[in-house]
Amino acid sequence: MAAIESVLQEQRVFAPPQALVAQAKISGMPAYEALCAEADKDYEGFWARQARENLAWHKPFTRVLDETNAPFYTWFEDGQLNASYNCLDRQIEAGLGDKNAILFEADDGTVTAVTYRDLLARVSRFANALKAKGVKKGDRVVIYMPMSVEGVVAMQACARIGATHSVVFGGFSAKSLNERVIDAGAVVVVTADEQMRGGKALPLKAIVDEALAMGGCEHVKSVIVYRRTGGNVTMQAGRDEVLQDLVAGQSDQCEPEWVGAEHPLFILYTSGSTGKPKGVQHSTGGYLLWASLTMQWTFDIKPDDVFWCTADIGWITGHTYIAYGPLAVGATQIVFEGVPTYPNAGRFWEMIARHKVSVFYTAPTAIRSLIKAAEQTPAVHPKQYDLSSLRILGSVGEPINPEAWMWYYENVGGGRCPIVDTWWQTETGGHVITPLPGATPLVPGSCTLGLPGVAVAIVDETGQDVPNGQGGMLVIKRPWPSMIRTIWGDPERYKSSYFPSELGGKIYLAGDGSIRDIKTGYFTIMGRIDDVLNVSGHRMGTMEIESALVANPIVAEAAVVGRPDDTTGEAIVAFVVLKRSRPTGDEAKQLALELRNWVGKEIGPIAKPKDIRFGDNLPKTRSGKIMRRLLRVIAKGEEITQDTSTLENPAILEQLKQAQ
Ligand code: WT7
Repeated sequence: MAAIESVLQEQRVFAPPQALVAQAKISGMPAYEALCAEADKDYEGFWARQARENLAWHKPFTRVLDETNAPFYTWFEDGQLNASYNCLDRQIEAGLGDKNAILFEADDGTVTAVTYRDLLARVSRFANALKAKGVKKGDRVVIYMPMSVEGVVAMQACARIGATHSVVFGGFSAKSLNERVIDAGAVVVVTADEQMRGGKALPLKAIVDEALAMGGCEHVKSVIVYRRTGGNVTMQAGRDEVLQDLVAGQSDQCEPEWVGAEHPLFILYTSGSTGKPKGVQHSTGGYLLWASLTMQWTFDIKPDDVFWCTADIGWITGHTYIAYGPLAVGATQIVFEGVPTYPNAGRFWEMIARHKVSVFYTAPTAIRSLIKAAEQTPAVHPKQYDLSSLRILGSVGEPINPEAWMWYYENVGGGRCPIVDTWWQTETGGHVITPLPGATPLVPGSCTLGLPGVAVAIVDETGQDVPNGQGGMLVIKRPWPSMIRTIWGDPERYKSSYFPSELGGKIYLAGDGSIRDIKTGYFTIMGRIDDVLNVSGHRMGTMEIESALVANPIVAEAAVVGRPDDTTGEAIVAFVVLKRSRPTGDEAKQLALELRNWVGKEIGPIAKPKDIRFGDNLPKTRSGKIMRRLLRVIAKGEEITQDTSTLENPAILEQLKQAQ
């Protein structure tokens, strides 16, 4: 809440620079409003026009939106297209064959340029190799890869033959990978021997071996291993093959498989409020339309731009704004293997200068940690680098606090570059609420307004609109082309998670709290309203971490909550009751360390609690419900002012407050 108050008091508004307005795709607020009005007047007509103008269709669609089976909406359903054709062949046909599609910078600084023509040849070879392995349209392929050209090639190759990919972030554990491989029913896993991050080689293939050995993965017929480091790996005869050998004998031509617009392009697992991750299923047509359109609307991408999204392909941001969006508009983009702090915390700024990056898209956590680094080490302050190529900055993944916003604006953007604070989710496929760089006046800390044609609103528990200035639940009232289609294999969960009957069953519930400014109607996001945490822009379910903790034989019970953190946005705090007596002192420290590592093994290092506190019990109501709101207060180190009279065991609060 502090953030909103400071914004309202300051009312610092930053108008878009005139030069940018003059040539922007959406130029000035009247242009934005005209698009909103067009969508309002003829919703289907508006989206049909966008889909015709921005995508190449093999067979044109005649139907636009079908709401008969709500909330299982379809878009452009009888149209046929291919995502890889739209990203590659189409650019070459338009004369961009020799244009760089990807400038890959490795962890050690080595740069490799890949033109659109090269990329199409590589994607085609890989696609042919997948076909040779028996992969057919509709089959699932799990991709567990480092940030690499090959990672993007693998995704595009799946799209080319109509296989549905499911990328698993390289930081997930063997167990998490095992669960995703099983849920997706994958026939192939694509991986690398190792990944290089910050000068260190980290295993990937060994984790795949471990994951597949855990059982349930008999449907996996082949493992394709990209030789990245040449590190030692075990290859299982008949199952594993080196990618480089596999593609060497393949033709560099591969006819795209034309698929219906609703064909599942990919499944991407994300955390929800219950234990099991959800396989968010996206379409081909509606999704790709969004990837292309938002590259133009939000990033105002131009032929000479050098675009850099620092996300990993394991997250939705890396899908939409690395693997698909930049290619769908024929842009040149940077793909970066490493980390922002290696060899030093000036890496991002140095790379922006070296590659003359003009549109830069990163996460608030990265900005906040680089602010700290720059304060400590003036040599890595962005002011030390030539960042004059920048024209637009972006932020994604979590709320950006006004202080970090100002620093980013002044020190990275030199006060010249609009910041697009883009609110969206794995489920939305692409941007939903965001400023437009050549139109929207900016207010630090606000993601401003919905994109044209997206019916974002704030409602109360009964589904009624709340007035501006009053907080509520963020919803989207009409289906939009790039929305989630279902949860893979679990349509019931899709309905109950996103279209609760209390809201009428047809309105998309985002899971975030939000408030609109009284005067401007600008949105400010207040964080999740469910049991989902956002740690460094990574989404984590508290129940998932709790299940991981109680899976440890020494743990009797666990409750996980979030605590605000200056750098990571939120930090994970776990309250744990052991089967043995409550540990104290050094034993508590030792066991906390063990449990942190345990969670790292169960889920992945990103899920390790920052703080673990042991108690004899957890605060519970008489009916046995854990009172998490009290734990949140304790985690923050604040005094409990709420009513605790319904507690069965109030004395436990004192103990947990002291436990460290
Ligand atoms: C959740 C979605 C968006 C792609 C990366 C994360 C939070 C995302 C913002 C923003 C405030 C944001 C929300 C959302 N979030 N962007 N600009 N301002 N909060 O995708 O893992 O699906 O997480 O991230 O809480 O619900 P995700």
